[in-house]
Amino acid sequence: MCGIVGYIGDREALPVLINGLKRLEYRGYDSAGVAIMGEGTNVYKCKGKVSDLEKHIDGREHSGSIGIGHTRWATHGEPNDVNAHPHVSYHGKFIIIHNGIIENYARLRDKLIERGVKFKSETDTEVLANLIEHIYENGSVDAELAVRLALSKVIGAYGIVVMCTEEKDKLIAARKGSPLVVGVGNEEYFLASDATPIVEYTKSVIYLNDGDVAIIKKEQLNLKTQRSDETGPTVQKLSFDIGEIDKGGYEHFMLKEIFEQPQSIEDTFRGRVSSEESEIRLGGLYDVLPRLIEAKRIIIIGCGTSWHAGLVGEYLFEDIARVSVEVEYASEFRYRNPIIEKDDIIIAISQSGETADTLAAIRQAKEKGAIVLGICNVVGSSIPRETHAGVYTHAGPEIGVASTKAFTCQVTVLAMMAILIGRKKGLISDNKYRSLIKEFTEIPEKIKKILTLSEDIKKLAKLYQNANNALYLGRGYLFPVALEGALKLKEISYIHAEGYPAAEMKHGPIALIDNKMPVVIIATKDSSYEKIVSNIQEVKARSGIVIAVVTEGDTVIRKMADHVIEIPETTNIFAALLSVVPLQLFSYYIAVMRGCNVDQPRNLAKSVTVE
Ligand code: F6R
Repeated sequence: MCGIVGYIGDREALPVLINGLKRLEYRGYDSAGVAIMGEGTNVYKCKGKVSDLEKHIDGREHSGSIGIGHTRWATHGEPNDVNAHPHVSYHGKFIIIHNGIIENYARLRDKLIERGVKFKSETDTEVLANLIEHIYENGSVDAELAVRLALSKVIGAYGIVVMCTEEKDKLIAARKGSPLVVGVGNEEYFLASDATPIVEYTKSVIYLNDGDVAIIKKEQLNLKTQRSDETGPTVQKLSFDIGEIDKGGYEHFMLKEIFEQPQSIEDTFRGRVSSEESEIRLGGLYDVLPRLIEAKRIIIIGCGTSWHAGLVGEYLFEDIARVSVEVEYASEFRYRNPIIEKDDIIIAISQSGETADTLAAIRQAKEKGAIVLGICNVVGSSIPRETHAGVYTHAGPEIGVASTKAFTCQVTVLAMMAILIGRKKGLISDNKYRSLIKEFTEIPEKIKKILTLSEDIKKLAKLYQNANNALYLGRGYLFPVALEGALKLKEISYIHAEGYPAAEMKHGPIALIDNKMPVVIIATKDSSYEKIVSNIQEVKARSGIVIAVVTEGDTVIRKMADHVIEIPETTNIFAALLSVVPLQLFSYYIAVMRGCNVDQPRNLAKSVTVE
């Protein structure tokens, strides 16, 4: 949450900062700002998007080759010009951008007020700016030490970048709990909350670790711990290209990402799943495989869409690998006192690898002695670095706030893991394995076929764009798909939607059914097909409107439902990978028709780094 950028080098800083903020806008978009140091120092900030900031700066002085920028998702203080970052300290010596939350800010603020410091904003960040300045002025220390000492008094999470107007040759960056990446150029450095603003300038990056403080000058970077011990930075190479973070001709990132799914699943398969091999290869799990095979229980944790993928994982692991599974919201898991046995394995799922609740749950599980595995998309993010082992999804950068390709790639990885464990346990014969892999590797082609239905789905969306409510129903593997379909609709179109296991409909939601609310039923042919046909009849008997996602050639449901979307046949265990795609498109088109900002829905942010 909140996007941070920084630059130091020979270029004009402003274009680098504005470009970077546009790439990070998915992390927060209620206000934005920049500070640039050249001959003088200029700070510009305003409520609204980065495009509003550009208009605000237009025609004003902004030259300088050191700068910081921020796009905000409000935590402390409403989104307005004053609360926008950067924040300038009381005497104007320090300028700071911050992602995270300073939990003890109220106490620190009161103490500073007692000492005569005046505040302009309601933010926790301004407290930090003033604390740094207070220490700098009263302790006769340099900017670096002032930052370090201030941070030692802070409780909470932060990714910060600090400029000091009396030490104009450097940026000081520090992280604890909020991500920061440094791009290493030729006598220039870039800073950002993730690598997307950096990749167009350099592929060499340093991911800061918690507790790191980086003192960055044009020609040199010193990395230290908070206690000032020097640590050697590890420079890594980015594995994606600038083309992957452009819209590539699509109207929205979300649509592009929906259409990328055949390719992103292929990328997730690459080197891991092949009909020529007798087993699935997941190099990242090599060391923990014996533990996984012997696990008595797997606990999957995640939030939002990643939690939905975890629910599909529950069906997969129980079905194929015969291991008992529990799926928990990370935010609930961490605040209970969960019982973790020595043979349990925890799997944390996260697209961003930065979700604060998931990270906190991982830390708690590790403290209890658990082996924790990660399924993440963003390479080098916090979760892969804090887990014992794991598998990357290789979905490529996901920019649209509503998760699409990350979900299908997470399910792909979970299916790979379940098949791998099932095979190692001797539960899958050679024949069965061959047919499973054949089916699995045909999924991308089948998704391509579903994507050709997009115009039909658009027409359907037109009919229901003004709905106030929607109900999504599914059974078995398709129940999490119902949840995911409902989440997609509510988050981007602001239509209230609920997902339910189809059989639960009779225990409450059936009361909502009328001739206005669309009921989306995922009813592809599987072992509970007959039951779901009965559910469709129950809805129709109450004058409900049924939109059914069915298997190609289904003539039974076609006669009952108001609308059908036919998708290719596949086995139960891969059904979620296909059936979610029409639901993503349905939500997308409805949101576009309602004039919603699809890629940046109100109040949301892609990477939820606050608890
Ligand atoms: C929904 C969505 C969110 C995320 C959730 C977890 O479309 O994107 O619900 O799934 O915030 O994020 P990650 O997977 O990054 O941990």
